[in-house]
Amino acid sequence: MSDFKNELEQEVEFINDLISRYLPDETGLDKKIREAMNYSVNAGGKRVRPMLMLEVYKLCGGDDCQVVYPFMAALECIHSYSLVHDDLPAMDNDDYRRGMPSNHKVFGEANAVLAGDGLLSLAFDTMLAAIANNPCQGEIKAAQAVSEGAGVQGMVAGQVTDLASEKSGARDMDTLRFIHVNKTGAMIRASLLAGGCVAGADEEQLKALSDFGYAYGDLFQMTDDILDVEGSFESMGKTLGKDAREGKLTYISLVGLEEAKKIAGQTAENALAALEIFGEKAWLLRELTNATLSRKS
Ligand code: IPE
Ligand code: IPE
Ligand code: MG
Ligand code: MG
Ligand code: MG
Repeated sequence: MSDFKNELEQEVEFINDLISRYLPDETGLDKKIREAMNYSVNAGGKRVRPMLMLEVYKLCGGDDCQVVYPFMAALECIHSYSLVHDDLPAMDNDDYRRGMPSNHKVFGEANAVLAGDGLLSLAFDTMLAAIANNPCQGEIKAAQAVSEGAGVQGMVAGQVTDLASEKSGARDMDTLRFIHVNKTGAMIRASLLAGGCVAGADEEQLKALSDFGYAYGDLFQMTDDILDVEGSFESMGKTLGKDAREGKLTYISLVGLEEAKKIAGQTAENALAALEIFGEKAWLLRELTNATLSRKS
């Protein structure tokens, strides 16, 4: 196995273990909602966002990784909540996620809404507890980057525009870019900036991370859209072919599959170029970019 694959597998295992420390006990009268929250987070996933945060923290000179652990867990809680809500009948109406029945299929719609709410709040509780324990500027800025990425200036804005474009039939590049940059790019960029902030990155480094985040986030959603056309359920763990059926605005619906692949290649180049200031030390982010371009899951 290559160094990169090996590193990735170990990291996913480590992150799974880490996140489980922050999840609620499945006890009490509200046991059901705790189970629903844990169900979706523990269902697996590539753990890309916490991985990015940890990597950037180290890349920018951070040497006490424990300080980023609560933030890494928070990022995955927010991401998992966004998927639980994204799958609801009122949104994408998907029956499978991470290879298992979606949250609302198992726990019902109301519980899926509340499980998402619970995960989002848990994320902020986790970050604030870390800050209360060790108040410092870098961590406060990291929490701010995450809240901005998750909210109406980020992921929420992208999701609402994605749904609106389905209804309006909008087919223009500006709207597509807005959707990608926000629904997917914002949390990815926030993960990178959060890692930089806690490590005390300088302005030049934060700018490079932001540029990388925009490009890598766009690439990540482009490849998700490409895999919706030509991926497999076994690798992706979700129902595919839905974007075309639902009339989603994607690079494929706008410029076709072949052109979308070309744009993905160019976007990966842009992402790699943004990493140049970090030199050799950014090898894992480079590998991750290349792996994302050719990903099957
Ligand atoms: C899925 O995200 C939603 C998109 C942003 C395309 P991931 O592809 O990171 O999903 P998991 O976390 O690995 O399940
Ligand atoms: C969702 O994008 C992005 C989120 C913020 C959840 P998609 O709707 O394309 O994600 P999948 O394909 O359902 O994973
Ligand atoms: Mg969606
Ligand atoms: Mg979806
Ligand atoms: Mg998709």
